[in-house]
Amino acid sequence: MPDIGFLNGEFMPLNQVRISIEDRGFQFGDGVYEVLRTYGGVPFQLNAHLERLERSALAIGLNMPVNSSKWEEWIREGVKRAGYPECRVYVQVTRGVAPRDHLFPNRTTATIVMSVREMHPLNPGLCDAGVVVITMDDLRWGRCDIKSINLLPNVLARQRASEAGAFEAILFRGDTVTEGAVSNVMIVRAGHVITPPEGMHILSGVTRQFVLNLAHKDGIPVEERNVSLREFRQAEEVFLTGTTIEVLPVVRIDNALVASGHPGLLTKRLRALFLEHIER
Ligand code: PDD
Repeated sequence: MPDIGFLNGEFMPLNQVRISIEDRGFQFGDGVYEVLRTYGGVPFQLNAHLERLERSALAIGLNMPVNSSKWEEWIREGVKRAGYPECRVYVQVTRGVAPRDHLFPNRTTATIVMSVREMHPLNPGLCDAGVVVITMDDLRWGRCDIKSINLLPNVLARQRASEAGAFEAILFRGDTVTEGAVSNVMIVRAGHVITPPEGMHILSGVTRQFVLNLAHKDGIPVEERNVSLREFRQAEEVFLTGTTIEVLPVVRIDNALVASGHPGLLTKRLRALFLEHIER
């Protein structure tokens, strides 16, 4: 079964999609994107992803050529065509094709692409044992709340983590932890779940919000506030959230264990609540 591709309203096999080298996404990274997945074949938190896509487009002055219901129709159609047990859907909108010039082109329509591939679950061993992270300077721009396709600093951070034998790079600005290269980060201290606040320095993760809501409903106190690097290193528990990683325990930061070096109780509780919700 081929992976599904999509270009400006037309479905085709993924390997047949062709884009101009003068697409502004290709030349300037002038575009926005979303990654979402299905559970039981149903796109997870679709509205939240589409709302964020619209917010990102608005923030860069990109005219979204279609509304949310059209997106929804396309995404569901893509998932249906792919027919995989679970899908990972990538959608991207760029400012279109035009002769290379930094200024916005006058009469160009946005380029819309989508890919639908099979989503494989994360290795359960990783989820049970927890992962290692490294810390590094957050070298990204000042609008990390926009899900822009400019991901070079994230790419370099994740690569550095991988070369260090780690799963993720946790970024900090000055003395303050922001997020991971591909995930949001949370710590536990004295029974409270603490995570950096929404704002321009982090992506407002769909999974982040979902997990915070689960915590609220379960009576777990939540604090959305800055976390210093020192507090991060001394946390009783640490975990990551994200579309592809759900709730993932962290057991080592650089060369130091997090507490005893095993996934913590609240992390396991939140992961269980998350999985329970998915099952339902
Ligand atoms: N990234 N922070 C960053 C920098 C991210 O790139 C992501 C997700 C998240 C988590 O957001 P969400 O829970 O909405 O997936 C946080 C996607 C998966 C990616 O770029 O592949």
